[in-house]
Amino acid sequence: MTMKRFIKIILIAILVLAIYSLMPVAWLYLKPQGPLPPTNSQTIDSLKTNKGKYFEFIVFGDCHSGLVLDDSATLRVVKMINRELRYKKIPIDFVMVTGDLTFRGTEWDYKNYNKIRSLIRWPVLSAIGNHDDDNGGETRFDKYIGAREFSFRNRNSYFIVVDNITNDMTETQFEKLEEDLKIAQDYKHRFVILHKPPMSLYQQSWYKPETSSWSYRFMKLCERYKVDMVFSGHEHMFKTNSYGGVRYFMSGGGGMITKTPEADGGYLNYLVIRVYKDYLDYEVRKVHPPFWEVITYYMWKNLVFFIRDAIL
Ligand SMILES: [Fe+2]
Repeated sequence: MTMKRFIKIILIAILVLAIYSLMPVAWLYLKPQGPLPPTNSQTIDSLKTNKGKYFEFIVFGDCHSGLVLDDSATLRVVKMINRELRYKKIPIDFVMVTGDLTFRGTEWDYKNYNKIRSLIRWPVLSAIGNHDDDNGGETRFDKYIGAREFSFRNRNSYFIVVDNITNDMTETQFEKLEEDLKIAQDYKHRFVILHKPPMSLYQQSWYKPETSSWSYRFMKLCERYKVDMVFSGHEHMFKTNSYGGVRYFMSGGGGMITKTPEADGGYLNYLVIRVYKDYLDYEVRKVHPPFWEVITYYMWKNLVFFIRDAIL
């Protein structure tokens, strides 16, 4: 076999694999819209009968539905989430999406998000992100998702979802949060979900938590009322750290391309949180992007950081 022929075969193989990796997203777009998935309040209602002190829940963010690049990756995230069933350990009660459900809030974006969340085996709860009200998206959020701020109990745990897409929290929101945190004292565990993290766990120059006054107040409240974990998205990567006894997560790797180096957490991901009575732990699952995105984007991203690290 000549070299030329060999290269030709390799290129054809790459092309075939790339097309093959695009099939799930093509299927998603061709698939007719099924019945509308439940709103947040309907999902919360379905959790009320859960009993026992052992459970898991899953968290991811920033699927930014509606863009082929994102949907294709989110389908891989969803596929892996659905495979969590194979461990058959303890029940998975729900999946929490930490906002930026849609690419830019359009009808097309929301319809895609509805199709995608319908594919998830477990009940899905969605927080609002700063792109979900783009292009008049707030009315679509109201229609398809419903409540933006809510709290609910699940077994021995209490969950509070806050809307902070304006990059601030009002006085009324703080009062409501504190009220909720007081109620939450009767539970073993307390979790808060909000799209934008109170501080960047991976400092990026555009993100200036030190200039946002709500962060300090929010983090002090979480510390005082012994919140176990705070989940955010917004930054398209995975990172976690602990401050004031509270564990903070950024898990915005649900589909949108990740720009930070992979070694720093710039990869697609979702979290599995396990609650064993009074004990808590978590695992982060790294999701491999679809092949066509590897050859058009991710391998180049990795190459750029590799060269940067080698020469700078
Ligand atoms: Fe985002």
